[in-house]
Amino acid sequence: MKITRFLIGFARSLVFLFRRPIYVTLMGGPGAGKGTVAQTLAPELGLAHLSTGALMRREVEKKTPLGQSIEKIMKAGKLVPDEIVFKLLEQELERPANWRGAILDGFPRTRAQAEWLTALFGKWHTRLTVAVQLEVPEADIIERLSGRRVCSNTSCGTTYHVTFNPPKTEGVCDKCQSALMQRADDKPEVVLARLVEYRAAQAPILAYYGEVGGLWSIHTTNKNTPAQVLANVKSAVLASSKR
Ligand code: AP5
Ligand code: MG
Repeated sequence: MKITRFLIGFARSLVFLFRRPIYVTLMGGPGAGKGTVAQTLAPELGLAHLSTGALMRREVEKKTPLGQSIEKIMKAGKLVPDEIVFKLLEQELERPANWRGAILDGFPRTRAQAEWLTALFGKWHTRLTVAVQLEVPEADIIERLSGRRVCSNTSCGTTYHVTFNPPKTEGVCDKCQSALMQRADDKPEVVLARLVEYRAAQAPILAYYGEVGGLWSIHTTNKNTPAQVLANVKSAVLASSKR
């Protein structure tokens, strides 16, 4: 077991030596557009799209005792404990298929998570390329989340909006033709709880990236199309990957 881990680590170091990975953290409040940007940008740049929210929803779907406890936390709009998030995310980052790099959608959400990521990349002799923060006014967030529709097939999970980003056929996913649905945590009372949680946790993370560097904030409203926001994030990633 130890020798296998050593060999995997050695192989990863060799790969990173020849091709520096791109790691992006995509942060912002509920409905800030993290998933919308990542679902297009990740395949464009050949990166993995790792949404910690989607990892949690996949765990909930398994209906294991762990999934049941995560479900309760998500329904209350609270943050899942760090140890659970770390374990599930590290498993994904460790997959050789994801060694090219990844867009971390919705991670970190606490200063401890940001520090954990820096330590993990340090251990792997690499670093975060850029921390992108999407800032959106709360009124726009409410409008976005009330009209959001997501693909019910969790291995697809494509996000739409009834007005801002509609599917070609109403109620049907363009990519896999599964039915679209509303997320359980998009109920107005849960959205408010998620906003409270976000407001409390975000300032220390921004302060952390202010100290260590690499923070890129992008201000958007519902007047900016998803394509415009995508172009801004892409510029931030490409400019930072040359540093
Ligand atoms: P998660 O699934 O990550 O939810 P979230 O952070 O609340 O963010 P959302 O997915 O709601 O929004 P988004 O920014 O992806 O916006 P989207 O692109 O969909 O996490 C869910 C839960 O899991 C958390 O509450 C927590 O319990 C747990 N969790 C997750 N990560 C965790 C972590 N690291 N630690 C602890 N717990 C964790 O866009 C929203 C809508 O707007 C869509 O309809 C879209 O089409 C539309 N839209 C997008 N861009 C635009 C635009 N430019 N103009 C107009 N509309 C737009
Ligand atoms: Mg999302």
